[in-house]
Amino acid sequence: MAENAVMKAIRERRSIRKYEENPVPKEAIDELLSAATMSPSAMNRQPWDFIVVTDRKMIKELSDRVKKQMRLVGYAQKYAERFTGGEDLVFYSAPLLVLVTAPKDYEWAGLDCGILAQTMFLAAYSLGLGSCFIGFARMLNKDGEALEMLGVPPDREICAPLIFGYPAEKKEAPERKPKIAKRV
Ligand SMILES: Cc1cc2nc3c(=O)[nH]c(=O)nc-3n(C[C@H](O)[C@H](O)[C@H](O)COP(=O)(O)O)c2cc1C
Repeated sequence: MAENAVMKAIRERRSIRKYEENPVPKEAIDELLSAATMSPSAMNRQPWDFIVVTDRKMIKELSDRVKKQMRLVGYAQKYAERFTGGEDLVFYSAPLLVLVTAPKDYEWAGLDCGILAQTMFLAAYSLGLGSCFIGFARMLNKDGEALEMLGVPPDREICAPLIFGYPAEKKEAPERKPKIAKRV
């Protein structure tokens, strides 16, 4: 069967960890956010808000703050290179960081924001952009100063930290587990 554009995007989207220098144009950011809002959500609550960070200095500072939190909780030993060196191995020097926030203690937040992330990733792919979910960056929720700097309200938390940019690497899919589909 000929592969349609959606199937191709699902198969070929990859988590990108090397980015070109050039920024993501405003129109593309608007497209990503517009696609995001089309995501399904429990009871159509649409619990997400977006903090868009394009200032490279700010992204670097947030990366350093994630590293600091990782060191504080002892993760740095397991991922020593990632959280101790000067290189940005948190956000991979991506030119666009979107922090998706959701109400604290909302039971569907993780699922809603996870689905939203994939919607944005597929939209990004269609625009020639690479993307990656940065779970480690949820450590920013432990950093009051960072939350204040970003303007995250006290009743919300960062649920899905997402990076985007023009890819500077081409990747094959990492190994997938065989699918086990029971038919009953
Ligand atoms: C919830 C979640 C958290 C993730 N956190 C990170 C992260 O902190 N850093 C990173 O480099 N990749 C992270 N990833 C990307 C995964 O490593 C990646 O999706 C996986 O290896 C499969 O590769 P693919 O996305 O190219 O198919 C995360 C992915 C998900 C879904």
